[in-house]
Amino acid sequence: MSIYLKTNEEVELLRESNLLVSKTLAELAKVIKPGISTFCLDKIAEEFIRDNGALPAFKGYNGYPASICTSINEQVVHGIPSEDVILKDGDIISIDCGTYKNGFVGDSAYTFCVGNVTEEIKQLLKVTKESLYEGIKYAVEGKRIGDIGNAIQTYCEREGYSVVREMVGHGVGRKMHESPEVPNYGKRGMGKMLKSGMTICIEPMINMGGKDIVIESDGWTARTKDYKCSAHFEHAVVIRKGVADILSDFDIIEKVLENKII
Ligand code: MF3
Ligand code: CO
Repeated sequence: MSIYLKTNEEVELLRESNLLVSKTLAELAKVIKPGISTFCLDKIAEEFIRDNGALPAFKGYNGYPASICTSINEQVVHGIPSEDVILKDGDIISIDCGTYKNGFVGDSAYTFCVGNVTEEIKQLLKVTKESLYEGIKYAVEGKRIGDIGNAIQTYCEREGYSVVREMVGHGVGRKMHESPEVPNYGKRGMGKMLKSGMTICIEPMINMGGKDIVIESDGWTARTKDYKCSAHFEHAVVIRKGVADILSDFDIIEKVLENKII
């Protein structure tokens, strides 16, 4: 239950693990297109992680069978890669990836478009990503956990979207899930006080329709109850005075996407 504050040396190791996640997601960004299976994406990710001297942190975690989570359209999180799941034009896919290197975990997620996606769904992705950065504005010393969640919730609900309640962000470090929990909803000024050296994953899961989710019969895949689309972005950050230090890096991913010819 205690929150582990990280030394600067530990933060640099965490940064390395999290940057490797971002680089892995950038590798996947190169190959995401209609026709590729999520199984294939998983194999590419696992090989890239191992080639970089790390282990896939998700594999075997509570029995999870793969190196990434691939959640398409109405799937919120924890979709299991499969040879039978083939990406098609107009899909969105959240890819969540974890690494373990030098004793520290990297954990970050990004939602990608497959081919041509409607403007309505693109807006969901834009707002969800922006809400992550709204939350990060409050991930500073002296603010509280509830300030982060409140910022995310306010930003998304203003657009008519809803926030998933059952799944939350978390502390990250030597373990993937450390204290504290980091909900994407909440009240300003409530919850644990943030201190410099805390390292947390903030990961808004935002639905276009209602907030309710159900777990599929595979025991992992969370999907929206109303089958409307859901988006998910996740950064690992270090709490600092004034401004958070973001350990994962979407720029690496977005450089690939900008230069991509579909
Ligand atoms: N980012 C996810 C989380 O924080 C990753 C867990 S997936 C699992 O819960 F497969 F490893 F459980
Ligand atoms: Co996470």
